[in-house]
Amino acid sequence: MKNYDIINHVRGESQFIDDLNVPQGTLFATVYGSPSAHGKILNLDLSEARAIKGVKDIITYVDIPGQNQIGGIIKDEELLAEHEVHFMQMPIALVVAESEFIAREAARKIKIEIEQYEVITEPREAFAKNKLIAPPRVFEGGNVDAAWAQCDYIIEGDCDSGGQEHLYLETQGAFAIPLEGGTFKVISSTQGPTAVQRVASNVLGIPMNKIEVEVLRLGGGFGGKEDQASPWAGMAALCAYKLKRPVKLILPRHDDMRMTGKRHPYSSDYKLGLKADGTILALEATYFQNSGASADLSPAVLDRTLFHAANAYHIPNVRVTGVMCKTNLPSNTAFRGFGGPQGKFVIEAAIFKASEVMGMPAYEIQKKNLLKENDEFHFGQKAKHCRARLSWEKMEEEFKVYDRISAIEKYNSENDLMKKGYAFMPICFGISFTNTLMNQASALVNIYTDGSVTFTTAAVEMGQGVNAKIKEIISRMLGISHDSIKTEPTNTSRNANTSPTAASSGADLNGNAAKIASSILRDRLLRSAAEELKLPLYEISIKDEVVCHKGEPTELKWHELILRTYNKRISLQAQAFYATPNIFFDRVTNKGDAFFYHVYGTAYIEVTVDCLKGTYQFNAVKVMHDFGESLNEVIDRGQAEGAIIQGLGWMTLEEVIYNKDGRLLSDLLSTYKVPDIHFAPEDMDVRFLGLPNPVGIMGTKAIGEPPLMYGIGGYFAIMNAVKAFRPGASFKISSPYTAEKVLMNLYSNVNIDEKISSLSVTEEK
Ligand code: MTE
Ligand code: HPA
Ligand code: MOS
Repeated sequence: MKNYDIINHVRGESQFIDDLNVPQGTLFATVYGSPSAHGKILNLDLSEARAIKGVKDIITYVDIPGQNQIGGIIKDEELLAEHEVHFMQMPIALVVAESEFIAREAARKIKIEIEQYEVITEPREAFAKNKLIAPPRVFEGGNVDAAWAQCDYIIEGDCDSGGQEHLYLETQGAFAIPLEGGTFKVISSTQGPTAVQRVASNVLGIPMNKIEVEVLRLGGGFGGKEDQASPWAGMAALCAYKLKRPVKLILPRHDDMRMTGKRHPYSSDYKLGLKADGTILALEATYFQNSGASADLSPAVLDRTLFHAANAYHIPNVRVTGVMCKTNLPSNTAFRGFGGPQGKFVIEAAIFKASEVMGMPAYEIQKKNLLKENDEFHFGQKAKHCRARLSWEKMEEEFKVYDRISAIEKYNSENDLMKKGYAFMPICFGISFTNTLMNQASALVNIYTDGSVTFTTAAVEMGQGVNAKIKEIISRMLGISHDSIKTEPTNTSRNANTSPTAASSGADLNGNAAKIASSILRDRLLRSAAEELKLPLYEISIKDEVVCHKGEPTELKWHELILRTYNKRISLQAQAFYATPNIFFDRVTNKGDAFFYHVYGTAYIEVTVDCLKGTYQFNAVKVMHDFGESLNEVIDRGQAEGAIIQGLGWMTLEEVIYNKDGRLLSDLLSTYKVPDIHFAPEDMDVRFLGLPNPVGIMGTKAIGEPPLMYGIGGYFAIMNAVKAFRPGASFKISSPYTAEKVLMNLYSNVNIDEKISSLSVTEEK
């Protein structure tokens, strides 16, 4: 169980776009972005920049032979600004030069005059001014209006969650090479090769068959390259088209942070109705999504918020409304969890507030309302093979959490300056693209005459180990070792019409396609072997690269079988297609079995807050996660741990700040703080629930996104500790819970000097 890619990464041998050897004559492009977040372009003066030696051309929208339009879901996004700019650093011009350095120096000489328009950065302000990307969306189940009368408690409030920078190690970029006959090869760091192909084809005004997109691997995507890799590839292709030379365009980190969208910040209102025993009867919520300047993936992200509004709880009456608010920020986009985390944060905030009002621990409310088998979600699907309660109970049992909580209470009673807090975080995450048609994939498997094998699928490797998993599937199907199988880059000429590798379903979709292709080859080979050995087909198998009869090795080895099969003129190549069965969703009624299955799990999180400084350290994250049967435990555990830390980072350290002019202030790693190894929980114990997925490929479950949402518990663990310091206090729920915010909560409206002088300092401190 290795992730083969990692070996090459450690050696520095893995190639990313900026590592490719470029052909002679390659030019380099840099992007000139708007200095204003909203306004009308009155004058663009390129003369001084053009005059610089080594500058080959400066390209603007007038040079676009096709459409200056890259919107995926809604056609509302220009590749290069024509007359108006809608966010700061919106691309306006491309400087193409003999070197990257010259291109960047020249871009500084561009002069622009902009008539300023009003800048909106907050979603509720956009809503008040009726600036929406599309009409609001409403998901509804049960009868919310009738339910309130039966509630003993009705909790109303609002909460905010912040954005998140993807911070993939490899920044956005592409390399476009003009080939003969007006065709292009585009090498792109994208999760969606077909999206890049479509954008390049639209921008150049040439058919898709003239553009071949190739992706070797990404240095991370995290959703940031699902749709937002396309503009840079489109720009590189545009430059290559105009100059008839290969063009490389790689965003420096500073440009990447300022020009690309991030996780959507949300500001939400909720109303939660409960019985006195903690049973939740109704949830009503409105989510004001900060969509940014254009739609991008916002409608799909918003839908997933609405799908996951009730998290792992059964709430019989739900009405949730999502509003896509148009602001003058880079268009926000997919980010691990895809709107699900934002939805779950709101229900967890509501439960936390309910626990304060009702004087009942939050975990009692959480546990009481966990989903059971056949419970109906508010969008009409029923929970099947539901593991919400099972994962909670196993977590309680294996980690003896109530003993730990007693220990925390004892600690807190003995310490004034240091307080510990805890939280539970159950999750339930639907697997499938919520847009049903996207749930399709394909694979191509080749066996060469020497017995070596290559495969290529629509999946993009971005560090999540999808290729190692697919290799494992092919290895099991054909009975050959991993060493005999090589992964080929993802390429639109080998696998056409690909969905992006996203929604955690890369291995499910492409693994299934690879499994079908492998089974076609296996059938041919077994028939061929039966014929060669003159034995009944049903007694033949292949194991460890040897043909077996009734499970016992024969003389016929894999490479010999391959050669003999080739000699009989039987194809050693197979292509296959997979589409997830039994899923559908009606986007008018917003009802249907949208997901093929759900992933469950429960986390218990402990933190210690330094109540003098407001700083904190996560001590333990104990998780019982529903991995299904793992194809590769090393990869799956790595995905879970990485996602948890990324989720904790979103909830605590990572603060995306724009000023009122729409300028990103946290635009470098000096001002945007991400988790490091010192931040990581001291004790991270992620355990396998150990049950196979009855519908998953080889019993597996998707892993990429779900564990990120355990991080939400980190927020409430800190607030739990702060409340141990200030019993009875109640705070606005607004993530990220930075140390500054914690400090404010610890002391605001309190005379700090008085409070500190009244504290007893124990030995520990
Ligand atoms: N893991 C690494 N190392 N790098 C990434 O960019 N992206 C995440 C997750 N894990 C990502 C990652 C996201 S957002 C998704 S949707 C899934 O991987 C996509 O891959 P999969 O469908 O193969 O799980
Ligand atoms: N998840 C992730 N990416 C997506 C989805 C989804 O449900 N739909 C479209 N892109
Ligand atoms: Mo992941 S946000 O679905 O790329």
